[in-house]
Amino acid sequence: MDLSKRIDRAMTSAIAHAQGQIDPDCNAPGRLAAALNYAVTPGGARIRPTICLSVARACGDDRPDLSDRAAIALELIHCASLVHDDLPAFDNADFRRGKPTVHMAYSEPLAVLTGDSLIISAFDLLSGAPDEDAARALRLLRLLARHTGMPYGICAGQGWESESSVDLSAYHRSKTAALFVAATQMGAQAAGHEPGAWEELGARIGEAFQVADDLRDALYDEAALGKPAGQDAIHQRPSAVEEYGVQGAIKRLHDILGGAIASIPSCPGEGQLAQLVRLYAERMTPVAPVRV
Ligand code: IPE
Ligand code: IPE
Ligand code: MG
Ligand code: MG
Repeated sequence: MDLSKRIDRAMTSAIAHAQGQIDPDCNAPGRLAAALNYAVTPGGARIRPTICLSVARACGDDRPDLSDRAAIALELIHCASLVHDDLPAFDNADFRRGKPTVHMAYSEPLAVLTGDSLIISAFDLLSGAPDEDAARALRLLRLLARHTGMPYGICAGQGWESESSVDLSAYHRSKTAALFVAATQMGAQAAGHEPGAWEELGARIGEAFQVADDLRDALYDEAALGKPAGQDAIHQRPSAVEEYGVQGAIKRLHDILGGAIASIPSCPGEGQLAQLVRLYAERMTPVAPVRV
């Protein structure tokens, strides 16, 4: 099955579960249930679950249900992180994926609860794996926790924004690259492969992705991005553009991705994965900036 169909189907089922739809005796609050769906659909690029499933496939994907759980758990965490990131306490953003952010559409309390509920759903999804997959599921839970919280994950990344001096590489590593490392490692782990060898590929794609996001933030406008532009400068956030300049950041993007293909561990689907990384490298390079 096409990966995007697989992701959509598994996401729909995870959200129905989180909304209480599959339990006839469950009477859950309707606005929060609606906000959960609003936060994940329509999705963005779904790059993290796509990477996770691509790595699982490259490693044989012998437990597709578990790979789906891993991919969707990652995307739920990602969507939750965006809902929280857009709140007035963080970036105070009104638009995301071309529509009002969750707190604008539903209120701040519901946005906090939406993010919280999605995070819990991610862990619930993995913990609900069938008994025969319990050993792999436990390792997946550990990987997800490591790359979501403190001291290595998204929480640490967002936490750097409250420090007076910021190490750009540590900030990017935990804020963004962590979930890409989780994507490659969890894809391998779901298919029964050792995750350690997959760290470098995830770290490289993740770091490049954040450099590309900084470039887009500096060069594009809100219509092109579907979210507010120029945010790094407005919030005085450290960014690759601020540190290296536009040309320097583009060079850095290419340097990081240049090493990504070489870092793919040997596995049956190595060639196809290399093609995917080449495709991402092309897509990440900014073209025809509309705002300077
Ligand atoms: C945006 O991530 C946040 C960053 C980590 C830079 P994406 O660009 O993957 O967001 P969506 O899911 O496609 O909207
Ligand atoms: C968001 O980072 C990454 C998270 C961990 C939530 P940014 O604040 O830089 O990303 P955008 O521009 O809002 O998507
Ligand atoms: Mg932010
Ligand atoms: Mg933001």
